[in-house]
Parts: sequence; structure tokens; C-alpha cells
Amino acid sequence: MNSTHDKENTTIAHYEASAEAFWDGTKGHDVSQNISAFLSALPSNKALDILDFGCGPGRDLKYFKSLGHRPVGLDGCATFCRMAEAHSACPTLQQTFCQLNLEAHSFDGVFANASLFHVPSEQLPSVLKKLHRCLREGGILFSSNPRGDGEGWQGQRYGNYMQFETSRELLMQAGFEVIQHYYRPTGQVIEQQPWLAIVSRRR
Ligand SMILES: C[S@@+](CC[C@H](N)C(=O)[O-])C[C@H]1O[C@@H](n2cnc3c(N)ncnc32)[C@H](O)[C@@H]1O
Repeated sequence: MNSTHDKENTTIAHYEASAEAFWDGTKGHDVSQNISAFLSALPSNKALDILDFGCGPGRDLKYFKSLGHRPVGLDGCATFCRMAEAHSACPTLQQTFCQLNLEAHSFDGVFANASLFHVPSEQLPSVLKKLHRCLREGGILFSSNPRGDGEGWQGQRYGNYMQFETSRELLMQAGFEVIQHYYRPTGQVIEQQPWLAIVSRRR
């Protein structure tokens, strides 16, 4: 289970097997702070082309669409793609993170909520470069990930856990400039804030 292919396939199979339970457990999650940090960094006077990277069953696609934007989902889990289309009426791309095939300069923003940490470290520079390439000039990449120091398996899901400095270095190498970061949940001491959110702009 150590090739990139195995890491992706096993992780995606985990989500396939628990798709309905995942939706029940996450459809009510409050991600307003993340959505607001993402949209605040983008123009507010026009409909935006947004890629929801690792969209899951479509909670955030539906919300972006309700604001008048043109969101597109992307997920490796076929069941999530079907659910996301049904819940949001948005198009979804069934692609794995390490085999991305995205048109250059086609999005204003990429929203990666709880998804990029599934990319194994050996693939992350190339995935970030592809996300950079799919963004238009000044485009925004938002990511929120569980933070930590190392990578490996948690059950059937592979994760790469980084702290802010490591994440910023990789984002800079891929051509991004970090414009904001924060820890979640808000109002806790840092030891009790497992999530790291970063807003970065395409240079
Ligand atoms: C923790 S869920 C987050 C879902 C959604 N963004 C949310 O906030 O609820 C991670 C998502 O990434 C997708 N995913 C994980 N590894 C993937 C990979 N290698 N390629 C494509 N999708 C993957 C899963 O199917 C799942 O939808």
C-alpha cells in the first residue's frame, strides 16, 4: 500500500464505502469562516468560476451556487460526484488529485476544504503546480487541513500533515503568495486548534 496509486485508491475506497454516513455527518458542518476567508480575497462584483477540490457530497457547491457563482466539483469518489451533482445541480469532474486534468486559467478560485492533506508529500509539489496553472491571474487557492508533522495511514485513509511553515514553503515554490492563515476552531488555545486554514494568491 505504498505507491501513490495505492494511497489514492485505498483512501477513495474508504470514502466510497462510507459515502452516505459521511454526508449525514458533515452536511450540517459550519464552514462559513472558511468560505468567507476564500470569497473575501476574490472580487465581489461578479460571478466566479470556482473549483471545489475534493467536493465530497456537495455541501459547499450548493452554497457557492446559491450566491450566484459557477462552481464545479472535483472528487475521486464516484458516489460523491453523483451525490454532489444531485445535491447542488453543479457539474463535477471525477478525477484523482494525482491525475488532475484541468484546463489552464479556467478558475478564479480553488476551494480545497479538508482535501489537500490526502495528497502524498511526493506528489504535492506537482498537484500545487497544476492548481496554480488552472487559476487565472490573481486567482485564490484556499486550503484547510488537519495540521501535524508527518504522513501516513489513519485506518484506510492516507494523510500528509504539515504545519504552517512547511505549507507556506511548498505554496511559494508552486508560485503562490500566502495572504492569510488561521487556526480552527476559533476561540481555543493553539493546542486545541487542529485545523490550519491558508488563503494564497497566484503570483
Ligand atoms: C475529508 S473529505 C472533504 C470533503 C468536503 N470538501 C468537505 O469539506 O466536506 C475529503 C474528500 O477528498 C476526496 N479525496 C480523497 N483523496 C482523493 C484523491 N486522491 N483524489 C480525489 N479525491 C480524493 C474524498 O473523496 C473526499 O470527498
